[in-house]
Amino acid sequence: MKKIIAVDGPAGAGKSTVCKIVAAKLNYTYIDTGAMYRAVGWKFLQTGENFSEELLQKIVNKIEIKLDAQAKVFVDNVEVTKSIRTPEVSKLASDVSKFGFVRKKLTELQRKMAESGKVIMDGRDIGTQVLPNADLKIFLTASLEERARRRFEELKLKNPAVELEKIQQEIFLRDKQDSEREIAPLKQADDAIFIDTTDLNIEQVAEKILELACNGK
Ligand code: DC
Repeated sequence: MKKIIAVDGPAGAGKSTVCKIVAAKLNYTYIDTGAMYRAVGWKFLQTGENFSEELLQKIVNKIEIKLDAQAKVFVDNVEVTKSIRTPEVSKLASDVSKFGFVRKKLTELQRKMAESGKVIMDGRDIGTQVLPNADLKIFLTASLEERARRRFEELKLKNPAVELEKIQQEIFLRDKQDSEREIAPLKQADDAIFIDTTDLNIEQVAEKILELACNGK
């Protein structure tokens, strides 16, 4: 059995939904690293200040981020699980993730969280930077149109006024920024298994990963 599973891929590829299913089936801990970058973005937003690297550094020095066993997210002991899911925080999470000092702090935390094994961790740089020795690496993607459609369906439940084109554009720009940044960009690890989920449903994707985790290649 693979003890450490790394799942990377662009926004809206279904990483977190699939990882939660796989984690539950294997009795593993799911670690959502995107939530940690969102936590930093959220904390910045609370200041109401304009963006500055100096203020970001101050925030990152002090911030305490916790993920519990149910994948609830806490920032300085305030639960932010839902409030970090807005488009505004998505953008800010991507913006703050460019900075080396942000990545250093979160990468260290992520490695610590994976120390005990039996974890499935998702993000952008897990297979390439955070856990390069992971037992199984997956790169999950889907067409931009399909990823936007999925995100649209999800957001529409909370806000019926959301627009598909706007979501598609936001995802496109965020992926571009995440792939083109200098430090630890979104990238498939050489030894990762590529899965295109455009024509697959959640159960089929989870099944594929479970098979790879249990039986290997
Ligand atoms: O997975 P997500 O959409 O919740 O992630 C939000 C942002 O956080 C993403 O646009 C880029 C950043 N991120 C990152 O740089 N590295 C990771 N391992 C995970 C997320």
